[in-house]
Amino acid sequence: MMRVDIATLFPDMCQRVLDESILGRAARKGLIETHCHQIRDYTLNKQKQTDDYPYGGGCGMVMYAQPIQDCCREIIRQVQAQGRPRPHIVFMTAAGSPYSEETAKRLARCDSLLLVCGHYEGIDERVIEAWADEEISIGDYVLTGGELASLVVADSVLRLQPGVLAEAKGYQEESYWDGLIEYPQYTRPEVWEGRAVPPVLLSGNHAEIARWRAGQSLERTRLRRPDLYEKYCEKQRKNR
Ligand code: ADE
Repeated sequence: MMRVDIATLFPDMCQRVLDESILGRAARKGLIETHCHQIRDYTLNKQKQTDDYPYGGGCGMVMYAQPIQDCCREIIRQVQAQGRPRPHIVFMTAAGSPYSEETAKRLARCDSLLLVCGHYEGIDERVIEAWADEEISIGDYVLTGGELASLVVADSVLRLQPGVLAEAKGYQEESYWDGLIEYPQYTRPEVWEGRAVPPVLLSGNHAEIARWRAGQSLERTRLRRPDLYEKYCEKQRKNR
C-alpha cells in the first residue's frame, strides 16, 4: 500500500485536498496513506523563520536548508518505523525535470514518496543536493510554491494504485495510455439545447463505436497535439 508524505509550509491546505474525493475515499478504505508535515515546526530560531535573504543579493527570499533537512529526517524515520524502505525523495521546483504520465507510472512503483515543497523564490541549493533523488517541475510556468505541484504529483501517482479507481480499466483506456487524447464523451439527455449525441453512440454496435472513438482520438490528437501525434505515428511505424 503506497504512502505519500508532503513537507510544506502549508500542510493543512495540502491535507485538505488529499482528504477529498477519490483519494480521500481511498485513504479511508486503507488503499493509500497520505501525511502532510509542517517544515516550520523544525526551525530552531525563536521567530520560527524559514527563509532569509539570498547570498549575493537579488530579490525574494530563500528557504533555509536546516528545517527542510530535519523535517525530511523525521519523515524518513516515521516511514521506516512502519517497516518500509527509505522513501523516494522528490523536490518540487520550477527548474526540475518536466513531469508526465510516464514519470507518474515510474513513481507509482515506489513503496513511498516524500514530496518537498519550496516557497518564496527558492530553496538553498545545498539541501536539494544533499536530499533530492530528483527534482520535478509540473510545467513551464512559475507557481508561488511547490504545494500545487506536489498535489498534482500525489494525485496522478495515487490514482494508479490498485483499487483507487473504480475500474482498473479506468486508467488504461484514458488519454496518454496509448499516447493519444481522449475521444469525446456524452451522457443524458440525447438532445441538449439543440445538440444531439453522435448517432453512432446510440446504435448499440460496439465494434462501430470503438472504431468511431479511435478515429476521434486520432483526429483530435492530430489537430490539438501535433507533438503527441508525431510520436504516436512514429511508434506505429516501429511496431510494423
Ligand atoms: N514551484 C514553482 N513552480 C513550480 C513548477 N512549475 N513545478 C514544480 N514546482 C514549482
